[in-house]
Amino acid sequence: MSKMYLEAVESKLSEGNYQKLNAITNPKVQQFIAESAELCSPDKIFICSDSSEDIAYVRQQVVSSSEEKPLAITGHTYHFDGMQDQGRDREVTKYLVPKDDSLSKTLKQIEREEGLAEVEGLLKGAMQWRTMIVRFLSLGPTNSVFSIPCVQCTDSWYVAHSEDLLYRPAYDMFTQKAEQSELFCILHSAGKMNDDMVSVETDKKRIYIDYTKDTIYSVNTQYAGNTVGLKKLALRLTIRKADKEGWLAEHMLLMGVHGPNGRKTYLAGAFPSACGKTSTAMLPGETIVGDDIAYFRNIDGQAKAVNAEAGIFGIIQNVNPTDDPAIHKVLTTPGEVIFSNILVKDGSPYWLGMDCALPKEGVNFSGNWQDGKTDNKGNKIPPAHKNARYAVDIGVLENVDSELNNPNGVELSGIMYGGRDAKSYVPVQQSFSWEHGITAYGAALETETTFATIGKEGVPEINLMSIQDFVSISLGKYVQNNLEFGRKLKKAPLVFGVNYFLRDKEGRFLNGVRDKHAWIKWMELRIHNNAGALKSPTGLIPKYDDLRELFSQVLSKEYSKEDYVKQFTIRIPENLSKLDRVEKFHKENVPGAPNIIFEVFNKQRARLLEAQKKFGDYVSPEKLEVVK
Ligand code: GTP
Ligand code: MN
Repeated sequence: MSKMYLEAVESKLSEGNYQKLNAITNPKVQQFIAESAELCSPDKIFICSDSSEDIAYVRQQVVSSSEEKPLAITGHTYHFDGMQDQGRDREVTKYLVPKDDSLSKTLKQIEREEGLAEVEGLLKGAMQWRTMIVRFLSLGPTNSVFSIPCVQCTDSWYVAHSEDLLYRPAYDMFTQKAEQSELFCILHSAGKMNDDMVSVETDKKRIYIDYTKDTIYSVNTQYAGNTVGLKKLALRLTIRKADKEGWLAEHMLLMGVHGPNGRKTYLAGAFPSACGKTSTAMLPGETIVGDDIAYFRNIDGQAKAVNAEAGIFGIIQNVNPTDDPAIHKVLTTPGEVIFSNILVKDGSPYWLGMDCALPKEGVNFSGNWQDGKTDNKGNKIPPAHKNARYAVDIGVLENVDSELNNPNGVELSGIMYGGRDAKSYVPVQQSFSWEHGITAYGAALETETTFATIGKEGVPEINLMSIQDFVSISLGKYVQNNLEFGRKLKKAPLVFGVNYFLRDKEGRFLNGVRDKHAWIKWMELRIHNNAGALKSPTGLIPKYDDLRELFSQVLSKEYSKEDYVKQFTIRIPENLSKLDRVEKFHKENVPGAPNIIFEVFNKQRARLLEAQKKFGDYVSPEKLEVVK
């Protein structure tokens, strides 16, 4: 470590921490740590070297600081975020954009100098009387072509502890390699906290992303989606890096689907927040590589994929032993788990939609809670927040995939896109081609807003490839990069569209939560040419007999023809108006949208109109032509 930067922080370091920092050679890291300390004025600096002593120290500090409190089961702790800090905050998450640059207008942004001055003003002196924790982590497996080194400075032991479960430790990567070509830097402070260790100045919450310096600033917030910088905040930086280097960073789950005769096929899936990534990746009998962020690279003409993360920060609502046996087991047996924003009573966590009655009182994100308690606007406070979550290391799951940490990744054979589409798309379909899938399922993805982001729920919106909030390059270029990625492969993965949230006229869901398992198994069969299909105007859909067999095999469920027809009837008027909305969106919001997008939309419209002429507005799958 260079003398100048070490000297600047020496007074805040114990002998041991001095030695650990001294072993770091990368000048950018040195500068970032020294400047963060200078700005935030922590009392002390703790350098986490990932040794077992250091990790144990983080665990001990998180409890002694009361940022987490122990639950009855060994290793389980809980943490609360403030009433105004229960989800990703889109309104105050902004890109810092230099005067001479511009970003897509769908993205929140602020002029760089102005935003930097604002956030630095809020961070100034923010760590007084506290310790600044420094963590060295890797996005993607360590020592791999996929690895991105990251350094996080935070005054929250909860953030440091969460990162222990969610990311791969990489202190060694920083001491062994002198020249990290590029790395991400994240600076976070919880800001002013009350006696319960909850950030209070939520009106001054800011999450700013400086892509010119690969640096993220976050202040006056604790919700992990806003503070654990390696998650969605780093994804914004990764997309730019991937764009420059010719690979893809995606908001996708990654799983091994186990087919006939012991074969394993890897699928990835993009769903907006709270739309099914974790529930899909955790399907019983299959194996999980990741549930949120995946990186794809073309290696020798093959699509190779890794999980950027190493843990799950999952929605706990509705987790129950029947639908989610693997995660339910981890949440109810000893081992390291952080629960957030659940209800606590007598040392046990409770959440919405669990398999038992909830107590009428306890402690939750609003403090002491009893049934009927209201907030200052008179709204009833639920026992636990809908967006309450758990954080666990994927490695502890019984369904962890053997290739989780493979530095070469896994071979990707299929990709699926899905959102909360109440009216148009069928539950599962396969695209006619790579281009058709990327465009008609990915770039045309429509969904309803959910509780995972702060704001009104249930508002329909387009969320391009489920990743729109994080696309820090032009949306047109991003779609183009996806199209090209597949074209350059020897064999592009098959592309599927799924819709777990299709409803009938009365607003009821047409599928059960576990039905997705049959869709996933069907995809696996399609990849290996083991199932036929029917040609609909929007894609290739399953044949009834194949699904009946899959429902029986996988779910031990009788699948009726009547259900099939209801679920797979092509709704022409709904699909035509979807196309109109999507096309309008692309014309207005996607500068540089590749022409092929509009060609694909036009062809889809023509197919829909032709079917409408022939069969009317609602086309039963029984009328469709069989293809191989
Ligand atoms: P993030 O972690 O925020 O990125 O969300 P996610 O994409 O991982 O969503 P997750 O799988 O946790 O599911 C979110 C919510 O949707 C949960 O409350 C689930 O119970 C619910 N859900 C998941 N699958 C289905 C389904 O097939 N049908 C219905 N109706 N709800 C579902
Ligand atoms: Mn999830």
